Amino acid sequence: MSDSPVSVAIDGDLAIVTVDNPPVNALAHAVREGLSEAVKTVEAADVGAAVLVCAGRTFIAGADIREFDMAPKAPHLTEVVGQIEMCSKPWIAAIHGTALGGGLETALGCHYRVAAATAKMGLPEVHLGILPGAGGTQRLPRIVGAAAAVEMITTGVPVSAARAKEMGLVAKVVEGDLTEGAKEFARSVIGVTPPRIDRAPAAPAPSDAEWAAMRAKVEKAAKGQISPLGCFDSIRNAFRLDLDAGLEAEREGFMVLKDSDQSKALRHAFFAERAVAKPKVIAGAKPREIARVAVVGGGLMGSGIATSLLQAGLEVTMIEMSADAAEAGRARVETNLDSAVKRGRLSAEGKAKLMAALTPAADYGAAAGADLAVEAVFEDMEVKRKVFGALDEAMGAEAILATNTSYLNPNEIAAGLRNPARVVGMHFFSPAHVMRLVEVVQAAETSPEVLATAFALAKKMRKVAALSGVCDGFIGNRMLSAYRRVCDYMMEDMRAIEPIDQAIRDFGMPMGPFQLMDLAGLQIGWANRKRLAPTRDPKVRYVTVADRLCEAGRFGQKTGAGWYRYEKGARTPLSDPFTQDAIEKAAEEAGREKRDFDAETIRRRAMAVLINEGAQILDEGIAARPLDIDMVKIFGYGFPRWRGGPMMHADITGVDKVLADMEAVAADDPGSWTVSPLLRKVAKSGEGFAKLNG
Ligand code: 3HC
Repeated sequence: MSDSPVSVAIDGDLAIVTVDNPPVNALAHAVREGLSEAVKTVEAADVGAAVLVCAGRTFIAGADIREFDMAPKAPHLTEVVGQIEMCSKPWIAAIHGTALGGGLETALGCHYRVAAATAKMGLPEVHLGILPGAGGTQRLPRIVGAAAAVEMITTGVPVSAARAKEMGLVAKVVEGDLTEGAKEFARSVIGVTPPRIDRAPAAPAPSDAEWAAMRAKVEKAAKGQISPLGCFDSIRNAFRLDLDAGLEAEREGFMVLKDSDQSKALRHAFFAERAVAKPKVIAGAKPREIARVAVVGGGLMGSGIATSLLQAGLEVTMIEMSADAAEAGRARVETNLDSAVKRGRLSAEGKAKLMAALTPAADYGAAAGADLAVEAVFEDMEVKRKVFGALDEAMGAEAILATNTSYLNPNEIAAGLRNPARVVGMHFFSPAHVMRLVEVVQAAETSPEVLATAFALAKKMRKVAALSGVCDGFIGNRMLSAYRRVCDYMMEDMRAIEPIDQAIRDFGMPMGPFQLMDLAGLQIGWANRKRLAPTRDPKVRYVTVADRLCEAGRFGQKTGAGWYRYEKGARTPLSDPFTQDAIEKAAEEAGREKRDFDAETIRRRAMAVLINEGAQILDEGIAARPLDIDMVKIFGYGFPRWRGGPMMHADITGVDKVLADMEAVAADDPGSWTVSPLLRKVAKSGEGFAKLNG
């Protein structure tokens, strides 16, 4: 028996070519070789057509991304697709699950495509920083036209089987057994000359003005990422070049993008997004079943968490201090779900069903039958301890108690409870029904089983969970606070906020630090600074501008002014003499000489501090792997995915350069920074942080 992942079985007048390469039938070298052999077998066999099917949960999900870092090995996918296309007998791709990337390109080499009603088809290469490199940008436009191809390839969003049928991408949607449906279709085309993609340039070509409009749209959405434009340019080639020349140019474009830093970063993000869900400490631990959750607190955070839990199919009891407050919380959930209905993401009936699974309550007794409770009450230790005490009494001894605290120590919250092993942090980000990140915080006594359950629950909620140990601010906010501090220093030295916000936006962050503070509100930071004031190290430089703004009642966008000023109801930040004055005064009182930093230096300093703090967090064991930090920053803080997260960004920039920047930052304000010993060690090793991902 051959151990090739591709087999050919003769079924009367048909050849059934089966790809079986779990888990997702990726086009590893052996699969490409097997398909190439299969074409020869089909040619030689006494059959009239070939049906290409896949075993397991999906059709081919693309090239094997793990092979991207290895030297390319023949046969290349482009050749294999060409061989299928040139076969003298028709090939029918039978698509179930997801035909993605090289998978769809293989199907495009087939002469017909039939799909299960639930199948999806797409070219998501753009998300890996590349372009479809096996004919996707040349064959797809010849089938579906320029506009649809640009949409599909530059956004990477797959289409449903029904939409694919409308676009002419599939010949038939099969409702029942896919293989049987595909065989039936195949028998109907036996003897027909296999229809091949036209080799002349694609037509009709859009006008120059139409191309320009499409390109401008792609460029705007790309926000600094290069692959969407690479995809666009390659699609445009399809309308200028014949198929062979277009394929050659596509291949060249693919190789250039594949070797880019952005693609390296995006591939890292792809695997890290999967690895982050599997920290070592939960290996072997069995998550508990969670069907009912009690959410304590119906404010912005609590209602967001409740919304997300309901959408994950769970029953939710929302506990507030009074019936009125519980009703207000219920109404907030309803508003969230209404907005999902408006966006077409939820049907009216679906919403009604979810609302029926929500029970507002005004006493802790209502938590009795819940499997897990998550508290999202006021950020105050005494308040949280009271809530946990009440839950401890009301709930079964095995129920899990999760705190959504962003800064408080879960060990203190858990102290004195019957069973502290069942206490875990689940730190959601606001708005909790939108933001993907949840930091799962392991307190001193949290059991692996409880952690595994928190991870499983996050997955059910379609969130990205990252494991964090206990420290002030956990991974994300602790790094944010260091990054803000260096931005504060530069702001005071430069006597300006705008150039800093601009430089950070140009790096690819959705917002600069001052803009972001205005959006989030300045109160929490202020309360936190006051909380930490008694223990503040006097050797560490302290910038007073934010306190001055808060003292003047400027708490950000909601109050019409913070770092910037806002016209009534508007979100556009406008510069404000009040802030300028506050900065000048603070700088003068602190005796700071005025300095200038160019955009590049601003970015490098901000990143050096972020990475240095990340290294410190790793060294202390708060994060187990650099990739955990990368995922926290990408999914919780808008760090550009195409830069791979801060630790990957360090590797790409060169850790030695980051260290030099950090040393310069530290030298400017002696006593204010600790250069992480791990940053020094990794810089010296020359191996990068990625090595520590294991
Ligand atoms: N190559 C290598 N490994 C892959 C892979 C691929 N293309 N796609 C998925 N995997 C791995 C995952 O890393 C994961 O491994 P793990 O279990 O060790 O963590 C495993 O397969 C299962 O994947 P998921 O956990 O993501 O499974 P899901 O069922 O949730 O999702 C999927 C399945 C929708 C297929 C999703 O995995 C996916 O989107 N894969 C990537 C698809 C893609 O980007 N294809 C284009 C590749 S580039 C290309 O084809 C270039 C060509 O143009 C030349």
